[in-house]
Amino acid sequence: MIRMGTVGTNWITQQFVEALDLSGRYELAGVYSRHQDTADAFAAKNHAQTSYTDYEEMLDQADLDAVYIASPNSLHFDQARAAIARDISIIVEKPAFSNRREMVAIQAELAQHPQVKFFEAARHVHTPNFQVLSKALLGLPTIQGAALTYMKYSSRYDLVLDGEVPNVFSRHFSAGALADLGVYPIYLAVALFGQPDHVQYFPTWIATGVDGKGVAILRYTGFDITVSFGKTSNSDAPSEIYGLRETVSLDSAGELTHVEERAADGTVTDLSEPELANPMLPEANDFARVLDAPTDPQNLADYRRWLQWSTIVNQVLYSLRVSANLRFPADEND
Ligand SMILES: NC(=O)c1ccc[n+]([C@@H]2O[C@H](COP(=O)([O-])OP(=O)(O)OC[C@H]3O[C@@H](n4cnc5c(N)ncnc54)[C@H](OP(=O)(O)O)[C@@H]3O)[C@@H](O)[C@H]2O)c1
Repeated sequence: MIRMGTVGTNWITQQFVEALDLSGRYELAGVYSRHQDTADAFAAKNHAQTSYTDYEEMLDQADLDAVYIASPNSLHFDQARAAIARDISIIVEKPAFSNRREMVAIQAELAQHPQVKFFEAARHVHTPNFQVLSKALLGLPTIQGAALTYMKYSSRYDLVLDGEVPNVFSRHFSAGALADLGVYPIYLAVALFGQPDHVQYFPTWIATGVDGKGVAILRYTGFDITVSFGKTSNSDAPSEIYGLRETVSLDSAGELTHVEERAADGTVTDLSEPELANPMLPEANDFARVLDAPTDPQNLADYRRWLQWSTIVNQVLYSLRVSANLRFPADEND
């Protein structure tokens, strides 16, 4: 069993530990929260062995194989480094790091600790529907572009309208629409089509100084991808990838729960795999597979591919921010 520790006690950590439980390959060895009562309540609910209010104490004492980091984005870097230094693998929520400098520094640390694995928790690219989608694209005679959308109104935007700065809309925490939701369609584009040649971001600014929504253009050789995302409005628009007469469409570039193909003759085929018991289960299984057998050739190849996606996504997010002059305090030393 993989001994796992957690950082953060919001709903996403709850969903992840439920996925760990479903996978049957992990045990929850330690829970960290800034507050003892929160740590104890989370640990009790999820039958964790120990709880901590000191993160480094958890790393030193809980005998962890890996730690899942689901804190505000700007905190990931220091928390990840502390784990790597102790030879503990890291599963870091998206977007893993604030900028390129942090990603480069993490990769230098990983090179010093070759047994440590780094996974970015980009749940959708580990799903069976992502496999189905990749396969469907191989059947297209050409790719002429895509329109990817992921837009969900955030209840925390109500707080912004009341003059507050919740974490998810805070520059201090390297947040905003691109970091929080835009990362999903961008991950999809990178995983399907690789690194774009050129990117440009057109944000809609909100009172907290970050982007509340926006449109990004990813230019590839021969086609463009338009990416629409936001946290200040809702969209039910499907995402589409264009062949010639054929189109592959998804319910949402972030959820990826429905995939269908419209053939040249207009026939529509539903390609979707059955609904998942937990949207984080496929990634939990994938990470366990690599942690349990890191030298298996298939696992090694998968791990390297995920690392490459994570590196490119980090670069694309950073280049998009530069194109829009969207800067975070974490960029100070850039
Ligand atoms: N994969 C997904 O589907 C998904 C979904 C949602 C979020 N996420 C990612 O998960 C991460 C956390 O997002 P979130 O919305 O849950 O963030 P959040 O609510 O702002 O914070 C997450 C946790 O971090 C701790 N925290 C909050 N504010 C803090 C502060 N000022 N200083 C130190 N720790 C603080 C809290 O835990 P304690 O109070 O227990 O210390 C909290 O439960 C982000 O990277 C986000 O992008 C991923």
